[in-house]
Amino acid sequence: MTDERSRAVERLDRVRRDADTPEATRKLYDEWARIYDKDLTDLHGYVAPQATARALADIMPDRSAPILDVGCGTGLVGRALAACGCSCIDGVDISPEMLAEAEKKGVYRKLTAQDLSQGASAATDSYAAAIGVGVFSRQMLPPEVFEELLRLVRPGGQIALMVRGDQFEADGFGPKVRELAAAGRWRVLVQETVPYLDTLGETGNLVLAEVQAKP
Ligand SMILES: C[S@@+](CC[C@H](N)C(=O)[O-])C[C@H]1O[C@@H](n2cnc3c(N)ncnc32)[C@H](O)[C@@H]1O
Repeated sequence: MTDERSRAVERLDRVRRDADTPEATRKLYDEWARIYDKDLTDLHGYVAPQATARALADIMPDRSAPILDVGCGTGLVGRALAACGCSCIDGVDISPEMLAEAEKKGVYRKLTAQDLSQGASAATDSYAAAIGVGVFSRQMLPPEVFEELLRLVRPGGQIALMVRGDQFEADGFGPKVRELAAAGRWRVLVQETVPYLDTLGETGNLVLAEVQAKP
């Protein structure tokens, strides 16, 4: 491994290890923001944003309808959605420096700094779709936040999630996907294992779901 790549792996490991409170997460991502895209895309083969965005765009009946990008980071997901023809994308993230990088992508209608573990400020049913890539994880957003996505997305809308393969079952994401399906809150359209950080050989679990009528 080159020095550059091993330093990038160290930065990834550090965030995965130390981002264990919202405040620590904000600080670590603020520090990482300017080189995040290079680390993830060039050095780690981060293919999850494109795969998830493409999967969502393919099932959206109207790509001009509003989409919420949850934990949007530097905007890799927004950029991928825009490349698929999606034209109305809002982003929310806890890290102002990540949001500053997202702004530079020029694809978001609105970007908001918010700790989503405390809920989102957007109104009920204000989105046709939501997407969350790499933000539902052991240390960041827990499976319970899926319920907040169900509040924000109107019935008939779509939700696209990408969760690290090693955490999907172990940290309750798979069980929560099944619980919400059994309760009739969403209908799971796709659940599959796909490449996530390709260079590192990591896979992710892609979930596509359609929101059902609110209880
Ligand atoms: C691994 S990055 C993924 C960013 C982007 N979705 C992507 O795929 O490149 C995780 C993002 O989630 C954000 N995040 C973590 N915890 C959060 C929280 N409680 N509320 C909002 N955003 C959060 C981080 O700031 C970071 O930008």
